[in-house]
Amino acid sequence: MLESLEKLAADPILGLTAAYNQDNNPKKVDLGAGVYKDADGNTPVFAAVKKAEIIWQQEETTKAYIAQPGFDDFNAQIIPHIFGESHVAVKDNRLSSVMAPGGSGALRVGAEMLNRAKPGATLWVSSPTWGNHIPLLGRAGLNIKEYPYYNADTHGLRFEEMMDTLKQANSNDIVLFHGCCHNPTGVDLSREQWDSVAELAKELGFLPFIDTAYHGLGEGLDEDVYGVRLMAESVDEMLVVYSCSKNFGLYRDRIGAAVVMGKNQEAAEASTSHITNIAREMYSLPPSHGGAIVKTILKDPDLYKIWKKELDEMREHINGLRVEFADMLAEKGSSTDFSFIKNQFGMFSFLGLSKEQIQRLRDEYSIYMVGSSRANVAGISPKNIDYLTDAIISVL
Ligand code: LMR
Repeated sequence: MLESLEKLAADPILGLTAAYNQDNNPKKVDLGAGVYKDADGNTPVFAAVKKAEIIWQQEETTKAYIAQPGFDDFNAQIIPHIFGESHVAVKDNRLSSVMAPGGSGALRVGAEMLNRAKPGATLWVSSPTWGNHIPLLGRAGLNIKEYPYYNADTHGLRFEEMMDTLKQANSNDIVLFHGCCHNPTGVDLSREQWDSVAELAKELGFLPFIDTAYHGLGEGLDEDVYGVRLMAESVDEMLVVYSCSKNFGLYRDRIGAAVVMGKNQEAAEASTSHITNIAREMYSLPPSHGGAIVKTILKDPDLYKIWKKELDEMREHINGLRVEFADMLAEKGSSTDFSFIKNQFGMFSFLGLSKEQIQRLRDEYSIYMVGSSRANVAGISPKNIDYLTDAIISVL
């Protein structure tokens, strides 16, 4: 039976990490998967996480099954962490959270829940969007349509076209937004643009589905959830999917959350009861370790302070790299103006290179980036920036 299956090509993002790891060139550069790297090219464990792990090792008294929604105290803390203590939806108890295996797990169970509520509903996604959104969400049964987003000529947003297209959405539709640090483009909505989108959601009644995977890595913890918080004030129902992979550095521990806002507490809890039921059918229960670490950090003011400082440093490091990278390309006389890199947020930027140029960077220089020319800016370091900028200029 299994001979009908042919071996698949490597995953377009994760496959790059595998290829990079096998490359023997000492000068190799990894700008592939969205993983933070420090100046030495390492992805360190947060000091706050190490401390929380020691605390949790003492506190954990059993390895018996975790509850279906995950830890109550994780879910109780992640809600104000995202929305803020004083948000009207928090005060009105209209939010319900479930732990999930990473942001991806939360996206899938969230999408399955939406598909139970409205089978085959249309889900609008930005063009482009994260490479795994369409397979991951489409497989849940939703009907994917795209709205214009990125303008390759200006390296900015096609906001008017985006709004014109979204005007076609109706109260049976779902619209996926990136909370901040748009993946793959690094181009985010401004506050005024969020205001207009929230107005439109209110007017047309579509359900906002906000993927928040880079909270704190754009402009700051409050700034990065401006859109999420505003949308939650504007509409009756929404779904927020949260990842702790990047901002807590817990990639391999697979911890995320699916947070539903309903018309009232009962409605929100009805939706999350479907999410836990769907998870039961797919993988039964969420893993516990990542959730234990996040809840330990969120509830301890000293640990929280340490975590926040580390996160702030990461963000500043990435934003500094954006400036250095763009400036160095200009100083070296690049024929292309890369100054747009400085105006974007989060780990990614679309460099605007052709498929051939990306292939040459890989073959001739062992520089790895996604085929769309999405570069993970966090993969740049003082050790590789000279080599990288020379290589880019040589293939332009
Ligand atoms: C990325 O976009 O590089 C990350 O979200 C990792 C992944 O799973 O694709």
